[in-house]
Amino acid sequence: MKKINIGILGFGTVGGGTYDILIKNRELIERRTGCSYEIKKILVRNPERLKAHGVDSSLATDSARDIIEGDDIDLVVEAIGGTEPATDWMLTALKNGKSVVTPNKAAVAANLHKLKAAAKEGGAEIRIEACVGGGIPALTAITEALSGNEFSEVLGIVNGTTNYILTKMGDEGLPYDEVLKDAQAKGFAEADPTADVEGIDCANKLSILMSLSFDKYVAPEDIPTEGITNISMEDLQRAKEKGCKIKLISKAALDESGHLSYEVKPMELPKSHPLCGVDSEFNAIYITGDAVGEVMFYGKGAGALPTGSAVVGDIISIMKKL
Ligand code: HSE
Repeated sequence: MKKINIGILGFGTVGGGTYDILIKNRELIERRTGCSYEIKKILVRNPERLKAHGVDSSLATDSARDIIEGDDIDLVVEAIGGTEPATDWMLTALKNGKSVVTPNKAAVAANLHKLKAAAKEGGAEIRIEACVGGGIPALTAITEALSGNEFSEVLGIVNGTTNYILTKMGDEGLPYDEVLKDAQAKGFAEADPTADVEGIDCANKLSILMSLSFDKYVAPEDIPTEGITNISMEDLQRAKEKGCKIKLISKAALDESGHLSYEVKPMELPKSHPLCGVDSEFNAIYITGDAVGEVMFYGKGAGALPTGSAVVGDIISIMKKL
């Protein structure tokens, strides 16, 4: 049985969730991949976090170099978040021939081409399923099972924090600040939740979705973006009285002349719309292909285990090819 050594950069919500799944489901993962694995090193800012997951403190390192350059590491999980130094570390790992799995949508949206080029150079793989929609396997579906389609539209609720806030404010009348704190405590929100509530996280995810669905790169900062900070309780109530809900929608559409339009914006959806019933931290990605027609993916878009599930799925895909 081939043995794979894994290094984890960052032990926050997703790093911790990934570790827990790798330990809990070891037997089935080894059976499915035909590989055994060991988590060799974890880059962690606060080693106290390891205790909560029962991790031996000897695995902790405070040097990313131990992982991205370490001869004893085959596969790197980058879960520190933010564009730098995450991108630099992923590029180094890939060029050193170590495959990388990441949920870091900000770094991937900003640098997808560079990361793919580095993977090619190092003969390694970069996998990004956890970047969009948490546990929902939409990216793999778009790039594999649905890749024979020409897509005309991608419509998504792709931020769990804002969907949670809009649901709790609209359905339960709870105040914005209280619900945001709750979303942070549950591990849905970014370290700086401005990225969630101002729609920046959605723009990162839409940029990735467009690269994969339309083969067109649009930088996140070039996507017209509006978050939810201007949505009041009154707006949500008014929508409710009309039988609608306000949702933060990320949308890209290709018209018949080949022009791609895109935006992130709160939109009022009628109850009959398939995305209207997507509540709380749930996400959905609704995509239209010329052969398949309309397809909708639905599931938990944030949180340790749903996002860890996508990271582990990518690790398994890499192990199966070894
Ligand atoms: N902050 C993100 C969200 C985490 O709320 O959806 C998952 O990408």
